[in-house]
Amino acid sequence: MTMQSAARILVVAGARPNFVKVAPIIDELRAMRGIRPVFVHTGQHYDFQMSEAFFQDLALPTPDHYLNVGSGTHAEQTARVMLAFEPVLLSEKPDIMVVVGDVNSTLACAVTAAKLGVAVAHVEAGLRSFDATMPEEINRRLTDAISDYLFTPSQDGDENLLREGVAPERIHFVGNVMIDTLRRHESAARAKKVYERYGLEAGRYAVLTLHRPANVDDPDVLGGMLAALAPVATRMPILFPAHPRTQQRLGLAAVADVVGGMPGLRVCDPLGYLDFLGILAQARLVLTDSGGIQEETTALGVRCLTLRNNTERPITVTRGTNTIAGTDPARIAEAAVVALDAPMPATEGPPLWDGRTAGRIARILARAVEKPR
Ligand code: UD1
Repeated sequence: MTMQSAARILVVAGARPNFVKVAPIIDELRAMRGIRPVFVHTGQHYDFQMSEAFFQDLALPTPDHYLNVGSGTHAEQTARVMLAFEPVLLSEKPDIMVVVGDVNSTLACAVTAAKLGVAVAHVEAGLRSFDATMPEEINRRLTDAISDYLFTPSQDGDENLLREGVAPERIHFVGNVMIDTLRRHESAARAKKVYERYGLEAGRYAVLTLHRPANVDDPDVLGGMLAALAPVATRMPILFPAHPRTQQRLGLAAVADVVGGMPGLRVCDPLGYLDFLGILAQARLVLTDSGGIQEETTALGVRCLTLRNNTERPITVTRGTNTIAGTDPARIAEAAVVALDAPMPATEGPPLWDGRTAGRIARILARAVEKPR
């Protein structure tokens, strides 16, 4: 009689927010008997501060496969991931593949696996901004359409999927896996007092992040958004860890003039996970166009203004600390002043954002590979 070999669960990550989501899932899978996780890093993000720094902070294992795809247009990047990922799937022959979030690597790996008949599990399924100009919205919709296991972070996700005709037995409301990572590292992150490194005082600074193409690619748009924050910058310093994409524009005239005229706006390089979590946790106000930061501030009870016209994470508004401020500079300036003066609202916190999501996901995956579909 032959020994039954371990079931293989392949887990994919490619970009900064993905690393935060796969870390607790890989930990759970590694602790299970009869399961062998195989970890693939596509290389969509590759700078030290965008990738390696997260591996160190989150104690992520060295990937079994590094695809080294790098940057490019959407078609180039997506195609390169597919080309590099297909041979990995053919050699590893996983029983199931897990993708997280909504980046190009998520979609590319989901399509490749589905066409080879590998079951796809999507963590963070069902989120919708209903804004098809966002590349992430296209990635989310297409990934969900070909996934066999749809793990949703909030019940609005279930509703969106049901409306799109997804069979209810494929949908699993498990909560938000990013909050598992946040809870695990929160006290260590606070204890680092990273704000001191930037000459800031706890609770008396704001944090800004901007990286969406619609906000940062056009220097006039980016300059206008930064100028809108002048009323905040005169009252407290704003720390601005700038994404590489944004940094490339900061030297351009329309932007450099604004930054030069706002001494309260302090630009720095992107921060690692622990440093950024510490900075968020002790901020008075956060201004961002990121999806994940809307969720992290909700979990931390820190007021957040989202510099977009919509969100795929409405629960951060209805049950959290988030306000959609839009992208119009005059509206942003008004919302920022209101936010600085208002007391923090009491929030209930979304259901199942309890730090135990990865365990729920791993148990469902373990049952799935026990009884092949
Ligand atoms: C990607 C995701 C976005 C996510 C974000 C988090 C897609 C479509 N977008 O956006 O959903 O919120 O990651 O950061 O997948 N660059 C570097 N070093 C790096 C990575 C990127 O310099 O390590 C620069 C390159 O010039 C690159 C640009 O940033 O062209 C954009 O990178 P890309 O991976 O295409 O998208 P992001 O803007 O990072």
